[in-house]
Amino acid sequence: MTKKKSNKPEYYQDYLELEKILNSQNLNSDKNNQHAHDEMLFIIIHQVYELWFKQIIYELDSVINIFLKDDINESNISTAVSRLTRITEIQKILIDQVGVLETMTPMDFLDFRDLLVPASGFQSKQFRLIENKLGLDQKKRFTYGNTNYKTYLNQNDSKDVQDSENQSNLFILMEKWLERTPFLNWGNTSFWKEYESAVSNMLNNDLSIIKENKNFSNEEKKIHIKHHKNIEKSFGVVIDINNHNEMVNSGEWRLSHQATQAALLILLYRDQPILNNPYQFLTKLVDIDELFTTWRYRHVLMVSRMIGRKIGTGGSTGSKYLNKTTEKHRVFQDINQLTTFLIPRSSLPELPEKVKNDFGFYYHIRKK
Ligand code: HEM
Repeated sequence: MTKKKSNKPEYYQDYLELEKILNSQNLNSDKNNQHAHDEMLFIIIHQVYELWFKQIIYELDSVINIFLKDDINESNISTAVSRLTRITEIQKILIDQVGVLETMTPMDFLDFRDLLVPASGFQSKQFRLIENKLGLDQKKRFTYGNTNYKTYLNQNDSKDVQDSENQSNLFILMEKWLERTPFLNWGNTSFWKEYESAVSNMLNNDLSIIKENKNFSNEEKKIHIKHHKNIEKSFGVVIDINNHNEMVNSGEWRLSHQATQAALLILLYRDQPILNNPYQFLTKLVDIDELFTTWRYRHVLMVSRMIGRKIGTGGSTGSKYLNKTTEKHRVFQDINQLTTFLIPRSSLPELPEKVKNDFGFYYHIRKK
């Protein structure tokens, strides 16, 4: 059924409410009777960023709503993947835009910088909402001067950001979805048992190759065996639940053991048609994480070029603070790190015939 159109013919200017948007660039330098040419660019670029942040939040909310459902089927995941792809395409623009701002020289910036204090991107409510909706671990937040990041926001913004801390986020919903996956149970055995034994066979085989290699001197063998032990230890982290829990307690790992198993299964058997959409979904989350990190790097490089070692208008240590958040504010690092535990296709446990059939070409994951 086609939607009924209102009688009034739309006028471009009105439909887009350009009157409001195009009259929202009021230069502080003009208000102070000391016009600074580059302040126009500075305002417009921030406004454009905020509009894109709005679109990112809109897409994130829709993906969060998909994962809040009781039933998630394959077409839901494919919708989520296409919305997340939209976010990654926007992020590429966000990174590119830094170059436009860099056409402003540090001297041009000094013409109006003092008129901004204490405003700063640090106070962007939408940026904080994005961090929280993605699922940034609040314990990992880097703050300067041990002050909560919300204290720099006004009361209303602070409340909205606080609410977003308490609401469902993409990391937690992804974790719950992974934990519910039906693909781990392989009838008489399980993916995990088979994976463990495949890893153990692979490691034993590698060790024999080292020990039996006639071209290695005893000294070289010792070095290779030591390296091999380290690899064995790293696998222990996913295979041994105690090791896993220790890593979670120390903050080195966040994803639950069950969810880690499911994510690994998806990564290892991504060639199975049924696991392809879940694989794309996990990949997109890693892409989003990486692109935000890339934006943060690009922003901090621009900042250090623009203000050197000066403190920021928001009062932080400037580049020093931004380098820390770039390093620490990652959300889907565990998924990214799962590649440590991949094993070659030739060592992968063969899927039992029944599991292959059960996988079929369609799935439906229901809340328990
Ligand atoms: C001349 C250009 C810019 C300079 C010199 C600059 C400088 C800074 C500095 C020093 C900080 C740390 C907080 C503070 O003390 O103020 C900061 C944070 C931030 N800026 Fe910029 N910035 C610029 C442009 C932008 C633009 C165009 C955006 C886009 C929205 C932006 C977004 C942010 C965000 C989101 C933060 C918080 C980052 C975090 O807490 O990890 N900045 N900026």
